[in-house]
Amino acid sequence: MKYAIHEADRQWAAGIWDKLAVKLKEECLRVGPKMPYIPENGAYGDMAERNLVWWTNGFWAGILWQMYNATNDPAYKETAEQIEARLDQGLEDYMGLDHDLGFLWLHTAVADYRLTGNPKSRIRGLHAASILAGRFQPAGEYIRAWNEGQDGIAIVDCLMNLPLLYWAAEQRKDSGMRQIAVKHADMALQYVLRPDGSANHLVVFDTETGEYLDNPGGQGYESGSSWTRGQSWAIYGMALSYRYTGKKDYLDAAKRAAHYFIANAAVNDYEVVIDFRAPEEPVYYDTTAAVCAACGLLELSEFVGEYEKPLYVKAALRLLRKIDEKFCQWDPAVDSIVSHGSGRYHRESDREVPIIYGDYFFLEAMLRLLDKDFLIW
Ligand code: GLY
Repeated sequence: MKYAIHEADRQWAAGIWDKLAVKLKEECLRVGPKMPYIPENGAYGDMAERNLVWWTNGFWAGILWQMYNATNDPAYKETAEQIEARLDQGLEDYMGLDHDLGFLWLHTAVADYRLTGNPKSRIRGLHAASILAGRFQPAGEYIRAWNEGQDGIAIVDCLMNLPLLYWAAEQRKDSGMRQIAVKHADMALQYVLRPDGSANHLVVFDTETGEYLDNPGGQGYESGSSWTRGQSWAIYGMALSYRYTGKKDYLDAAKRAAHYFIANAAVNDYEVVIDFRAPEEPVYYDTTAAVCAACGLLELSEFVGEYEKPLYVKAALRLLRKIDEKFCQWDPAVDSIVSHGSGRYHRESDREVPIIYGDYFFLEAMLRLLDKDFLIW
């Protein structure tokens, strides 16, 4: 087994898996090839009708491919294939695309290619990777976030898009593609991650000279605070860059981010709030940060020595058990599982709601514990 966990934890994980299998099969049949985001009155709509390339539109397909890999049930595969085909229009339209091409195409075309070898999926993934590489800014050496009107910005989230470039570089034997990913990760080491293990959400560069200018507030409480999903992206993103490059600075950065996250989560009994540096009241949770961090901690544990692993695996288990205790709903007739996800601190409309990527990362973490996952990143 990939992770050495106690028998009691294994049994708990197996029990969660039984519930996931029932619920996700029902959801697959009911939701089909929609691109769900936040359910309304317990039912998912189709985010693609509002924005085909909204950054979360790959996660349902990611869930379906993980379920197909774990069960071999063709219903999951067929539904995921339909979502992948729907996204073609996004590549063709081009204008709406931003830095989040990894979140969209790793979970769809690249997952399909990895599991089935479908050549058309490989081309879709390579096409998306080329567009992502084209966002690289030579002045400042980072992948640009968002589009017109938001020039000069790099963000911590984008670490999760780099695996699309690492994958494409391997596929095409294209060292330039890999160098773009490495340059962005190096920029993040210098400017996005802070020496104490916390992370900025945004950093801004002069678009002509590449000089670092500022770190304004992003989806967290304020500039200099500590948006927890950004902390999770830092753990998982740096661990993934280590996986693909073997560069020790990335591993050390992932560890610092992990230690910071674990310390802050532990003092709050592993109930993760939207920002670790926000006022104590009101309490706003973000379960998506917790489940994403759990995946990042499990990923990180794969690259450290035997006696170092338990810290990360046990912390992941604490986070996941807290989600199970307090934030899961298992009624198969209701869409979504993990409640209390939050898009950003200062926006009520997506604060403490179920969000599709919370379910994705919860599923990925549980499958990892049971050795039923495949690496989608
Ligand atoms: N755009 C990624 C996030 O909200 O975390």
